Amino acid sequence: MNEVEEVKSRLDLTDLIGQYVTLKKAGANYKCVCPFHQEKTPSMMVSPQKQIWKCFGCGRGGDHFKFIMEAEHLEFGDALRLLAQKAGVTLQPRTQAEHQTRDKKETLYGINNLAAKVFQKILLEQPVAKTALEYLKKRGLSEETIKQFGIGFVPRTFSLRDFLLKRGFSAADIVKAGSPDKFFDRIMFPIQDVLGHTIAFTGRVLGDTQPKYLNSPDSPLFSKSRTIYGLNFAKAGIKERDYVVLVEGQMDVVALHQAGATQAVASSGTAITDAQLLILSKYTTNFLLAFDADSAGVATTKKVIEALLRFDLNVKVVDFAGAKDAGELLEKDPKAWPERVKQAKEGLEWWISQEVAAAGDLQFIENKKKVVKAMLPILQLVTEPTRLDHYVQRLALSIGVKNDAVYAALEKAGLAAHSKSQGTQPERVPVQNLTNEEQLLAAVLARPDIAVKMKPEFEQVVWQSEQASRIADEVKKAYTDKTLTKTPSVFLSQVKTNLDSRVSEKIDSWQFWLSNQWGEISDELMGELLREKLGQLATKGYERRKEALAQDIRRAQEKGDINQVKQLMQELSKLAKERG
Ligand code: UTP
Ligand code: MN
Repeated sequence: MNEVEEVKSRLDLTDLIGQYVTLKKAGANYKCVCPFHQEKTPSMMVSPQKQIWKCFGCGRGGDHFKFIMEAEHLEFGDALRLLAQKAGVTLQPRTQAEHQTRDKKETLYGINNLAAKVFQKILLEQPVAKTALEYLKKRGLSEETIKQFGIGFVPRTFSLRDFLLKRGFSAADIVKAGSPDKFFDRIMFPIQDVLGHTIAFTGRVLGDTQPKYLNSPDSPLFSKSRTIYGLNFAKAGIKERDYVVLVEGQMDVVALHQAGATQAVASSGTAITDAQLLILSKYTTNFLLAFDADSAGVATTKKVIEALLRFDLNVKVVDFAGAKDAGELLEKDPKAWPERVKQAKEGLEWWISQEVAAAGDLQFIENKKKVVKAMLPILQLVTEPTRLDHYVQRLALSIGVKNDAVYAALEKAGLAAHSKSQGTQPERVPVQNLTNEEQLLAAVLARPDIAVKMKPEFEQVVWQSEQASRIADEVKKAYTDKTLTKTPSVFLSQVKTNLDSRVSEKIDSWQFWLSNQWGEISDELMGELLREKLGQLATKGYERRKEALAQDIRRAQEKGDINQVKQLMQELSKLAKERG
């Protein structure tokens, strides 16, 4: 068994997927809501027997590695490392190239990890960092929190570059790692990926000079638009409490974690992207927005509510009761957070009160119209009638008009009709019917232990589809290794090794087709199914060969080639005898 198979055999796929979504038993399989696209009714299937998964909504599917690659946004190598670690399997570098790319990434992580370590050591131990450490403590951070988040300091007098060069890192690699040596006189926040590698930094000035924060550029390790600050620490808390707290800054995240809100995360130095929201939506569907109380923060909140609404996710908004952001709130009162969560407003209700507050005196009809006008585009995104009615009522009530007036405005804007016709369900990929050849292959792959007994018949099949024939070739190859046929999942992955990923995915979906069609199949039934399919296909093969021979005979007769006619006739009767 190779490493990949070893890792798979030690980890149950349903356990693994169960860590991300709730699985429900459905016959021989499990069903769940797909974590990779937005949906409410489950269209993802997991087969415990085959150790494969498939979503019939978005088409994604595969094995353990495919799942972790999607779920954690990892490349295959990193997914393998992560799962190997979970499974307790020690990996050997396989090819020279793999060794090198792994080493390369390892080197770049090494540079940033080492830099973070040195920065922290300076902050905690060196006199030159005294002001910085005092500043952080004055802002309410404990030494424990500083250590957890790996916060450090880089004085003007320290050359990280020289330090790294002395340690044998090359100047080129330092640049590739995101030039962590470009920061001076700043408090350093390491930005870590979900696995805890330091992939970038953001550095804050001590005083008020601009720019307040300086960020690492994108690098082979760091993608600003996809990285979520604090997620490695927040993952568990988000899942446990089933909501995520989104804030604007590093300080907010750190302060919230210290205050016990361990599900806080931030985007890093950019606006929150759809990619980041989708990553977070895999952990929870509930978002608590706690952006700064200034006008920029309000604008961000509106943008994010809109995006979350489009993704059909739930959203609430925190009000800081006068503080400018979560950091400041907690500096003033470390215990203030739970009450803020309790007082949080549902997203659109918050939005309505924003517009009402901004509109001025509502005795004037003009101002009522202003509120309605501001709310129309966002109400347009609400397609579920009960939900829409709820908001319409809130809006109508808060400006003192009848619900009908708001509906009329919606209709006039052509939006109500739009909301009726526009479904929110993603397009379903229908489970198509399989051809006889595909059904045979599906059955063979489901129970190679039974199918291998009919190996001679299988080899007789004349395949019509080129793809089926390709797969059949791989099956024949896998048949030669007797041990393989014992475990269907190992057999299946062996067959898939040399097929391209599109074909592999197709094969996986057949397995679900099979269990949908037949439920739990007994050994007897599977044997019958295989014999029947083989019989049908062998007959077809026979008939096609007979037809071809008959044609050849006709042609030979036309040419008057008696010898060839004789020979072909003999072949024909041999074929008929074989057939019995
Ligand atoms: P804020 O200015 O709100 O920072 O910027 P903050 O968290 O309140 O920081 P303190 O409390 O003053 O220390 C929010 C985030 O925006 C990014 C940083 O990621 C910061 O954490 N930012 C801000 C920059 O990238 N550059 C800047 O110049 C300012
Ligand atoms: Mn802030």
